[in-house]
Amino acid sequence: MSPTETLADPVDVMGRLLSFEGKQNPYPLYEQMRAHGPVVDVGGAHLFVTGHAECARALREPDLLSTDAAVQDGKLPGWREHASWVWLTRNMLFSNDPDHERYRRFFASAFSARSVETWRPMVERRAADTVEHVARLAAEGGPVDLVAEFSFRMAVGVIGELLGIPDEDHAAFRSGVGDITMTLEPIRDMGQLTAGDAAMERFAVYFHDLVARRRAQPANDLTSAFVKARDAAGELSETELVANLMLLLVAATEAPQDLLSNMVRLALEHPGEGERLRTDEKAAAGFVDETLRFEPAAQILNRVAARDLEFFGVKVAKGVPLTLLIAAGNRDPRRFGDPGVFDPARADNSPLTFSGGAHFCLGAALARMSAETVVPLLLRRLPGLRLAGPATFRDQIVQRGHGRLLVTAG
Ligand code: HEM
Repeated sequence: MSPTETLADPVDVMGRLLSFEGKQNPYPLYEQMRAHGPVVDVGGAHLFVTGHAECARALREPDLLSTDAAVQDGKLPGWREHASWVWLTRNMLFSNDPDHERYRRFFASAFSARSVETWRPMVERRAADTVEHVARLAAEGGPVDLVAEFSFRMAVGVIGELLGIPDEDHAAFRSGVGDITMTLEPIRDMGQLTAGDAAMERFAVYFHDLVARRRAQPANDLTSAFVKARDAAGELSETELVANLMLLLVAATEAPQDLLSNMVRLALEHPGEGERLRTDEKAAAGFVDETLRFEPAAQILNRVAARDLEFFGVKVAKGVPLTLLIAAGNRDPRRFGDPGVFDPARADNSPLTFSGGAHFCLGAALARMSAETVVPLLLRRLPGLRLAGPATFRDQIVQRGHGRLLVTAG
């Protein structure tokens, strides 16, 4: 930036980021924010964090809280009237210790690297079924929406099977999962929560019923295992169990769906890299990491200071919100060479997209394995795959991804 250029006001940049146009291509706006530095102090009232190291530190700082019920009281008066946030604050993502530690202890071992490895045959079977489904549709000649027919179908198929949700119920979750992720966006009008409230109420009825059915007749699935563990040790209330089952369904559907869609689009837009992904098994892990860095399915995380503290030399008063622009951190030139270049061969990649610290994504290993399995399989099965129109993004920035992605099989 030359000395004659004036810096854009950070609040104004954030406002533009939250517009529909801003969400289509947020990356130039992140650079405008970064021009103010890695930690942007808006008059002591709000911090925006753009640096990689600074976001990583914020995620590991125990005195920076996730949005639990007490934090939400300060941020969004009236939220207790809304089923979406009432249920969200009962899950591990929107809790802090001691509840967070208790929830995480209860659910974490089910998603260990060892468990995930035992699910590989199921993931491979789901991947093969999903790819054949797309191939059948594509053979009809018209464009296919990959978000609905590939990415969503694969993501919900994997978590649905793990939780014991019958296949015939999967499709009905699609709109509700999307509506619930909309409640994570910055709220400017409480009406934004209406669809998410209704979806959460529907999901709660569904999961209460699933829990009751598995209690009466256990099956070989995680819901049955969680019900048995809960009933034996009493570490969780029934409501907390249901809230965290809903989190697992939503978290394991929308973000993985967006990762898969982004991977396919990037492979088609970068034919050399796409060809490597198709032909070289070893290329998949790097392609997943670079997609997470370059086009993150989660772009913004929120924290609030639990006490007066100092963060990278900036005084932060208790209650002040920090907006962690992890998608900007993923393009921090102090951490990554040529950050605006999509390079799946990048050494020592470290996207912030699975978060870090206490709330580090519980499903990261599962999401990676699914993506590394299904996307190369699609590219091998349909070598003539082409984009059938411009790819647009949903009106979302916290959970960002394509609403539709039309392709033809060539
Ligand atoms: C591309 C795929 C995924 C992305 C980008 C992603 C991203 C994230 C992020 C950013 C967080 C933490 C947010 C914060 O720190 O405030 C998180 C937490 C979480 N994720 Fe994922 N996720 C993905 C897939 C999954 C899957 C497949 C599952 C299910 C098994 C899952 C379950 C969870 C859970 C339970 C938490 C809460 C952890 C806690 O609070 O301790 N996620 N995820």
